[in-house]
Amino acid sequence: MSSDWFETVAEAQRRAKKRLPASVYGALLAGSERGVTYEDNLAAFAQLGWAPHVAGMSGTRDLSTSVMGVDVSLPVIISPTGVQAVHPEGEVAVARAAAARGTIMSLSSFASKPIEEVTATGAPTFYQVYWMGSRETMLQRLERARAAGAKGIIATLDWTFSNGRDWGSPWIPEKLTLGAAMRFAPQALRRPGWLWEFAKTGRVPDLSTPNLAAPGEQAPTFFGAYGEWMGTALPTWEDIAWLREQWGGPFLLKGVSRLDDARRAVDAGVTAISVSNHGGNNLDSTPAAIRMLPAIADAVGDEIEVLLDGGIRRGGDVAKALALGARAVLIGRAYLWGLAANGQTGVENVLDILRGGLDSAVLGLGHSSVHELSRDDLWIPQDFTREFGAPAPAVPDSLESLEMGAGLA
Ligand SMILES: Cc1cc2nc3c(=O)[nH]c(=O)nc-3n(C[C@H](O)[C@H](O)[C@H](O)COP(=O)(O)O)c2cc1C
Repeated sequence: MSSDWFETVAEAQRRAKKRLPASVYGALLAGSERGVTYEDNLAAFAQLGWAPHVAGMSGTRDLSTSVMGVDVSLPVIISPTGVQAVHPEGEVAVARAAAARGTIMSLSSFASKPIEEVTATGAPTFYQVYWMGSRETMLQRLERARAAGAKGIIATLDWTFSNGRDWGSPWIPEKLTLGAAMRFAPQALRRPGWLWEFAKTGRVPDLSTPNLAAPGEQAPTFFGAYGEWMGTALPTWEDIAWLREQWGGPFLLKGVSRLDDARRAVDAGVTAISVSNHGGNNLDSTPAAIRMLPAIADAVGDEIEVLLDGGIRRGGDVAKALALGARAVLIGRAYLWGLAANGQTGVENVLDILRGGLDSAVLGLGHSSVHELSRDDLWIPQDFTREFGAPAPAVPDSLESLEMGAGLA
């Protein structure tokens, strides 16, 4: 095996840290405020325990499933990440890896590559939108995604524009002007491997958002686009139903934490939701996504597809999410570390690690398919789960009359 191959996502992250300029690495690490949510996303998976068998297990295991009507060879899909300057091939390399490994690519509105280049890789692609711009602009962007062949839309709704991290946010220039390049140079020069990848292309990262360009116009900068988003009036549930209707196809609402929101998402007609806290980058102190999953999966899992993202770093984590009711998971940092460490091959490497770990878990638990994973496979600590927004329990008729009787006495 080539020496570029890494055996765990933790190793990919170490290599990414060595390879990337400090501010690019910091932008991927992200997190917010105290980092409570970021850490809980990881820690919660470690609290769940397996109960494996030793004999009578299945010699073949089926890991395949489908997500919003798209067949995938494993229940892991690429989550949208709006990042820049990680690798010159950026999201195109990620999409090639997704295609090579039989899974779905999701492309962020804030991504560095145009959707047409991403769908041209052959990877089934979901396009991610925020509620930003006028309705006309939103429709224009949906139509562009449709024309490019996107198979579904992801609407990410959990962003609250929080900023600030106790460990400091990286400095990111608006544009890579000469002045910015000079300021950036000391950290870039300490990362010759990264610099060389870009130097070979003859271009510097332009830090723009090509998928948000108005027809025939230059792409806005990352911060210009962020400003448009911040200036947009916040959506209502009727707005979400409108957006879903305009798209008319598979529609995933990303960022659900509560039962009442999951129910409203069903009412708005979505195909799927992802239980998610935006990878801990948003409202800090939201519990780990995996803690919020079981109650939501119980409540709406029969009506829509319930997915999860946040904290997936190994195949066992994927198995745990499935055992607690997810149909599939989305990964963010795991593939970003792979991309930074070794481009397309690095992302394939990460998907292979997850596949291997998932297969081991399915084998050890005595199953022949990922669909057989269930809560019986897991030791779940008391107080592990978090449940929000449950409907008030209905008072049984008999109790109601008893209470009334008591009131009369
Ligand atoms: C650097 C970075 C950028 C992100 N950008 C977006 C984005 O543009 N749109 C979106 O829906 N989610 C975005 N996310 C959230 C991911 O899609 C996903 O929810 C999260 O990374 C999952 O957690 P994980 O990194 O622990 O897998 C971003 C995450 C990271 C780390």
